[in-house]
Amino acid sequence: MRAGRRDHGDEWWRHAVVYEIYIRSFADGNGDGLGDLAGIRARLTYLRALGVDAIWITPFYRSPMADHGYDVADPCDVDPLFGDLAEFDAMLAEAHDLGLKVLCDVIPNHSSSEHPAFRAALAAGPGSPERDRYLFRDGRGPGGSEPPNNWVSVFGGPAWTRVGAGGADHGTGDGTGQWYLHLFAPEQPDWNWRNPQVWDEYDRVLRFWLDRGVDGFRVDVAHGLLKEPTLADHPGGIPLTPTAMFREVAEPGAWDQDEVHAVFQHWRSVLDEYERADGRPRVLAGETWVADPRRLANYVRPDELHLAFSFGLLTSPWSAPAWKEAIAAGLGAMESVGAPTTWALANHDVVRPVTRYGGGPVGARRARAALLVALALPGTLFLYQGDELGLPQVDVPPAERRDPMWERSGHTSPGRDGCRVPLPWSGDRSPFGFSGGATEPWLPQPADWASLTAAGQVDDPLSTLVLIRGALAIRAALPAFAGGHLRSRPGTPTECLAFDRTASPGPPVGSGPPEASGNEVGVGGSPTVTCLLSMAVDDLVVTVPGRLILASEPVAYDGRSLVLPPDTAVWIAAEDPAG
Ligand code: NOJ
Repeated sequence: MRAGRRDHGDEWWRHAVVYEIYIRSFADGNGDGLGDLAGIRARLTYLRALGVDAIWITPFYRSPMADHGYDVADPCDVDPLFGDLAEFDAMLAEAHDLGLKVLCDVIPNHSSSEHPAFRAALAAGPGSPERDRYLFRDGRGPGGSEPPNNWVSVFGGPAWTRVGAGGADHGTGDGTGQWYLHLFAPEQPDWNWRNPQVWDEYDRVLRFWLDRGVDGFRVDVAHGLLKEPTLADHPGGIPLTPTAMFREVAEPGAWDQDEVHAVFQHWRSVLDEYERADGRPRVLAGETWVADPRRLANYVRPDELHLAFSFGLLTSPWSAPAWKEAIAAGLGAMESVGAPTTWALANHDVVRPVTRYGGGPVGARRARAALLVALALPGTLFLYQGDELGLPQVDVPPAERRDPMWERSGHTSPGRDGCRVPLPWSGDRSPFGFSGGATEPWLPQPADWASLTAAGQVDDPLSTLVLIRGALAIRAALPAFAGGHLRSRPGTPTECLAFDRTASPGPPVGSGPPEASGNEVGVGGSPTVTCLLSMAVDDLVVTVPGRLILASEPVAYDGRSLVLPPDTAVWIAAEDPAG
């Protein structure tokens, strides 16, 4: 156990900080310019010192890498680019020794077109049981030469690819001319979740990794597994850009079908079986791009997923009313089903917060403040690698772009490479300690990242890394952050977000009993912590009696009156009546 960390009990996932490792870009252990399991293993102590509870590792399974591993050809083996099963086992054991939980990605919406089941489907031909494991259909129009419906791929272009008869036959010689559905790239055919063999395949996958000891899974595209059975046209034609994330209103037949919940009820029973055997929770966290909070809550009913990603904050503009609404909606919906709310400001698919919030010093300042707020909210936070360093989005030159979205969008979307640039660990030039080898990192790192390396920040008291590390330590230590209680503070200016966290919902602000013990960060055991964030353009003066425990920027505070500069967040502990 870590000294000073509170034991959150069995249900750690209800108030955890989960660090997302985008494996290609985290740390390269073998010098080939690509992150890998050995690189993760070597940096586990960094993550422990940062203070996260768990890591989620993006796919490292055997894959042709058409979508950087989200196209899985063998989900029960490690791709040689990332290591092997022995390396995985060693990494997992070391993570556990350090007190870190490990979540892996499971990708149930689609496989790779190189998956043996898809190759068998192509070879077997129309009407075969093999084809029924995927979504093959005849085309429309003369000779079936038009796609079966008007659906589009999330990456751009049609969601259908034709095999044979002028289409890609993937080397099978198939001349039947049927089409198959792929909500993402053509190399990612969608499974047919109405076929029981698909359920069996995923039972096998889940059990394979659970038997190796993982703590659970992040479920890719959890809201997409089932499609409306007739695969009817979307009503509005093809309205979406490749960057649109919430798609269920415009594409009602493709996302968030009620039938999907049976899959997760079944998966939950599989994970619960493991938990019952040894008392260690196994956790399912769904990637659920569902905008309606009530529909989102359906995924985390007591017998389904443990966590559903809620993207309300991530998609909110820099405005206090918008943030208040997103927070209230997120908390309200999850409360109704007894599940914790999750928060995320970023992941490997979206523009990094520093850039989203305006870029440059303003963006950096806002991103620091935003993280302090997200860390003060009840529930579980998913922290994307590099956000603890305040990394901005990189404008990767067109010739270096590797995301399939760039090509498939006809070069209208730059794709997601800009948030996936390999991390700067140390040194003053690329590869910044990311890689020890002669091979260049797989995406170019900007020269000015010399000022953002982890090694350069670790001893700088004003750095983003030290701020976030401190925030994590305080969050883990203070009773106020342990419970699920949040009270918004009335009477603060419109452009100020203000709420209290308390250990229990009972006593009013500042009147709770004194806590007996201190903690490792020396901030006392105050029962209430107030979090404030100013999104105003001028300084705000706010009255909050207490003690300043953390601020994203320097502030003036006399224990009562706080001058809060723009784009700044603070945590203030209510003064203990006992002193
Ligand atoms: C969501 C993942 O986060 C993204 O990176 C991937 O491209 C799609 N799912 C398809 O698997």
